[in-house]
Amino acid sequence: MGQHEDIKRIGLLTSGGDCAGLNAALRAVVHRADSYGWEVVGIPRATQGLMARPPEYVEFDVSSTHGLLRAGGTVLGTTNQGNPFAFPLPDGSTCDRSQEIIDGYHLLGLDALIGIGGDGSMAILRRLAQQGGLNLVGIPKTIDNDLGCTERSIGFDTAVNIATEALDRLHFTAASHSRVMILEVMGRDAGHIALNAGIAGGADIVLIPEISYSIDNICQTIKGLKRNFATIIVAEAVCTEAGEKIVQTNRLGQSRLGGIGEHLADQITEKIGAETRVTVLGHVQRGGTPSPLDRVLATTFGVEAVDLIAAGKYDHMVSWQNRQVVHVPIAEAIAEYQAVSPGDALVKTARGMGICLGDTACHEVHVPIHPDATVLASA
Ligand code: F6P
Repeated sequence: MGQHEDIKRIGLLTSGGDCAGLNAALRAVVHRADSYGWEVVGIPRATQGLMARPPEYVEFDVSSTHGLLRAGGTVLGTTNQGNPFAFPLPDGSTCDRSQEIIDGYHLLGLDALIGIGGDGSMAILRRLAQQGGLNLVGIPKTIDNDLGCTERSIGFDTAVNIATEALDRLHFTAASHSRVMILEVMGRDAGHIALNAGIAGGADIVLIPEISYSIDNICQTIKGLKRNFATIIVAEAVCTEAGEKIVQTNRLGQSRLGGIGEHLADQITEKIGAETRVTVLGHVQRGGTPSPLDRVLATTFGVEAVDLIAAGKYDHMVSWQNRQVVHVPIAEAIAEYQAVSPGDALVKTARGMGICLGDTACHEVHVPIHPDATVLASA
C-alpha cells in the first residue's frame, strides 16, 4: 500500500504578498489531487482562515478551476501582515495565535497542507508544522525571486515582463524629450527584477542593492553616452550613496521602501543639469495575467507538490533547478537568502554589454562575457 492511501483531504493556502501565477498553482494542485481521488480545500487569507471559528475553507474540484490558469492575484486572498506567533492586536500589543491555526487544520480534517509563499511565509508555516505535527509541503512564490534553493519562484517572470515593458515605453519618451528616465522597481532586498528587466529592456544604468554605486559614475556614464537621453532602472532597496535606506512614511507612522528614484533624479539634475523624470512601478508588478513561463512553473510546482504528499515527503519545498523540478528541505530554502551575487552570470552579461552597475562608469568597463570573446571578435 502506498503512502498516499492515508490521504483524503489536503488544504492549500497562499501567504505573503500576492503575485501572478498563484491561481495557476491552485488549479494544478486540484487537477493532480483529483487523479489520486483526494479532496482539495482552499484556505482563505493565508493562515487567518484556519484561525477563524469555524475554520474557513472553499472546496475545489476540477470543474471549479475554470479560468484559474490566467487569473491574476489569488482567489483565496492573502496577507503579509499578522505573523501568528506575534499576532497584532488593536491595542498595539501582540499575542501568539499559532495553536488556533494548528487546531483549525485538525478541525478541517486535513491530512496535509500546501503552503504557497516566500521566505517569510515558509518560515512561519514550517514553525507551525513543527509545533503542531502538520504535514506541510511548500511552493515558492515571490516576485523578488529571493527564496533560496530555487532558481525561480512563481511571479518573478511576470514582474520582469512588466518592468521590461515599462522600460520599453520609457525609452521612447526619454528619447523624445532628451531626458533621463528613472524606473524604480520592487524587489525588497534583492535586485533580480532590476537586473533582469534592465538587461531585457536595454537600460543604460542598472542599480541593485547588492552593488554599491557612486553618483559620479552614474553622471559620467550619462555624459559618455553617444545620445542625449538615458534610461535607469533602480531597485527600491538601493540606498543613498551614504548608505541610508529610503522609505516613505504615512501619517500613521507606517514605513515602506520607496523614493530612491526621486533621490537619484535630484542628484543627477544637480550634478549635470539633466532633465529627469521618475516612474515608480509599484504593485503593477504583482498584478495581472501571469506570463506563460509563470503558468508553466506554477503548474509544474502544483503537480510536484501533490506528488510529494503522495510520497509522504513533508517539510519539503518544490524547487526549480537545472531545468527541472526537484524538492529541497524547507529549512534549507529559508536559510539561504538568494540575493544577486557579484559573480552572477547576469552581472557579467550586464557589464559585457557596457551597462553601468554604478560601481564604475560604463565606458570604462569592457569585461568579455566569455574569455574567448575578444579572440572570436577579431577572428
Ligand atoms: O516581497 C514582495 C514585495 O512586492 C516587495 O517587492 C515589496 O517591497 C513588498 O512586497 C511590498 O509589500 P506591500 O504589498 O505590503 O506593499
